[in-house]
Amino acid sequence: MKLFLDTANVNEIREAAALGVISGVTTNPTLIAKEGRDFKETILEITKIVDGPISAEVVSLDAEGMVKEAMEIASWHPNIVIKIPMTWEGLKAVKELSKNGVKTNVTLIFSPSQALLAAQAGATYVSPFIGRFTDISQDGIALVSDIVDIFTLHDIKTKVIAASIRTPMDVVNAAKAGADIATVPYKVLEQMVKHPLTDIGIQRFLEDWKKVPNK
Ligand code: E4P
Repeated sequence: MKLFLDTANVNEIREAAALGVISGVTTNPTLIAKEGRDFKETILEITKIVDGPISAEVVSLDAEGMVKEAMEIASWHPNIVIKIPMTWEGLKAVKELSKNGVKTNVTLIFSPSQALLAAQAGATYVSPFIGRFTDISQDGIALVSDIVDIFTLHDIKTKVIAASIRTPMDVVNAAKAGADIATVPYKVLEQMVKHPLTDIGIQRFLEDWKKVPNK
């Protein structure tokens, strides 16, 4: 399973990219707004840091508007993937965009039937939201697992991005469920690195090293 970073913060992206563990980036209107910067300028800066799929989301609600926005955004850089919300109009847009060779990431997926429809319309990626589903006492990992099972059974090539990740355990469970990708917030990436026994171990090695004579 690959890891994408779920942020529009270029400092976070730069830091994570330096670890060599990130193969793409996902953004959404909330993450873009948080940075208080120009949308195009932000996305283009991200494309310079990470050489992989960079998701940027449209905000139109009608298919025609989505396609128009998507064509403009996609023209900025070949690595850009257009995030389209999972709606009736969204599916029409995905069909049109896939016909024109534009890669799409269908977002806000909360059921296997939505994922199946998105895939049939030509989506490159689907993004089931684990955390937001768990927030309403639903099983987000079971959702990912069901989608992966269906796609595998029917040889559907659309890739599954486990999104709305809140904890390192979400990442591990998404990997066990067979997700192709997990898109993780920077804070979760930091948590994945840390383990108290690692810190204690380093401390002990350093203390013992002081006892070595004639280093
Ligand atoms: C996915 O692509 C979304 O940007 C993101 O994972 C949503 O996460 P949230 O539920 O923490 O906002």
